[in-house]
Amino acid sequence: MTGTDQAGSIPRTSPLPARKRLHVITWGCQMNVYDSARMSDVLAPLGYAPSDTPEGADMVILNTCHIRDKAAEKVFSELGRLRRLKDASQGRMILAVAGCVAQAEGREILARAPYVDIVLGPQTYHRLPEMVAQAARAGGAVIETDFPAEDKFDHLPEQSAPQGVTAFLTVQEGCDKFCSFCVVPYTRGAEQSRSAATILTEARRLIAQGSREITLLGQNVNAWHGAAPDGATWGLGRLLRAMAELPGLARLRYATSHPRDMDDALIEAHRDLPMLMPFLHLPVQSGSDRILAAMNRKHTADDYRRLTDRLRDSRPGLALSSDFIVGHPGESDADFEATMALVRDVGFAQAYSFKYSQRPGTPAAGAPGQVPEAEKDRRLQALQALLREQQARFNAACVGSAMDVLFTGLGRHPGQIVGRSQYLQPIHITGSVSLIGEERAVRIRDVHPNSLSGTLVQERLSA
Ligand code: SAH
Ligand code: SF4
Ligand code: F3S
Repeated sequence: MTGTDQAGSIPRTSPLPARKRLHVITWGCQMNVYDSARMSDVLAPLGYAPSDTPEGADMVILNTCHIRDKAAEKVFSELGRLRRLKDASQGRMILAVAGCVAQAEGREILARAPYVDIVLGPQTYHRLPEMVAQAARAGGAVIETDFPAEDKFDHLPEQSAPQGVTAFLTVQEGCDKFCSFCVVPYTRGAEQSRSAATILTEARRLIAQGSREITLLGQNVNAWHGAAPDGATWGLGRLLRAMAELPGLARLRYATSHPRDMDDALIEAHRDLPMLMPFLHLPVQSGSDRILAAMNRKHTADDYRRLTDRLRDSRPGLALSSDFIVGHPGESDADFEATMALVRDVGFAQAYSFKYSQRPGTPAAGAPGQVPEAEKDRRLQALQALLREQQARFNAACVGSAMDVLFTGLGRHPGQIVGRSQYLQPIHITGSVSLIGEERAVRIRDVHPNSLSGTLVQERLSA
């Protein structure tokens, strides 16, 4: 950054900018959470400090998701609410719409909500300072949804606000897979990988700020292939090995993976790196080969069975999570039953399941054989009942065992602290706040609807 000294971000020559309040609303995936944090970082040198509420904010950013259902309608109804706050501020509040709906429907947003000042896609938020300046000149709304030639990661500030005990780090963005149902290749653009050096630098900064667990993020994170410090091109397995050597880090995760990009080096990383958590989100979408082909997933249900077997062989105790879509065009009862069979065969500790949602501009939206809504409902309920049962069984099996827990914050009740198991289960105990940021073994005593509870065991399990 120009105009800064080496030790910090405070310009020496110009006075500190006035303190302004920024409120960011985040919908969608973990990458949007990361992007929202980075947008705050980009705006911090302009004097914007985070605010928990939109009331009285000088700027509000609505960071949107386009993945399913009435994404645009949800945006317009939230914008209606924010408009009232903007009016109450006599128009002083800058209102920005970011994220995947902004990318896909930016023009429509400006047409239907002309009080919006800035519309920006996920690849242009490094330019926010210019956009804010332009909006302040009141020359009408600013829209930045072209995919820029430059890489935004080369233009983000080196400084960032601390994320806390657990942190996200985007290493890869975009998607070239073009699954029949999905908008992401259109909203996030083509697959791009950051270099290993910039990732490791950011990881060191997160650790210095107190993060003990880092989740590497990408739309297809295991398609990551980046320039390495040694001049070679690394894959994700090699990057994880380098990450595991960073002093101070306790845990590593990555999300979200595609079954096709799960290569030998990555499977071996699960075998060799104890700090790589034995919990993998690996979306399969369907258990029917016919539907997997129609979805353009380019693997079969048995490929997935074999892959999960190999993963479990290389890392005993590894548990799986997944995403499922029911009612993709052409899905018959028999296809749906094949999905149920796959779930029974593989067994999931946790999973997300969705009714197929027609997304404008995607191949499946216009495909024949659209499944009636009532049938999608029926299939979703059956699938979710099975997945809930598997999750309950997984959680119940934890009772009595000692699990490593990384404590992240205070619980809801006095004296309570909460953390996450290796399998991302929320776990609470009665314990000292000094344990926040520490990983300790907890003897699990009880299962609750959304969490487990237990008592501290003195020694760390994997120590
Ligand atoms: N990149 C990841 C997931 C991206 S979106 C992957 O390839 O698996 C997250 C999940 O949303 C998907 O896994 C899918 O299950 C679901 N999803 C995406 N588009 C959808 C649609 N049109 N209807 C219903 N669910 C959808
Ligand atoms: Fe969407 Fe498929 Fe790409 Fe995942 S792999 S982001 S589901 S197109
Ligand atoms: Fe949604 Fe865009 Fe993420 S559509 S799921 S915010 S990549």
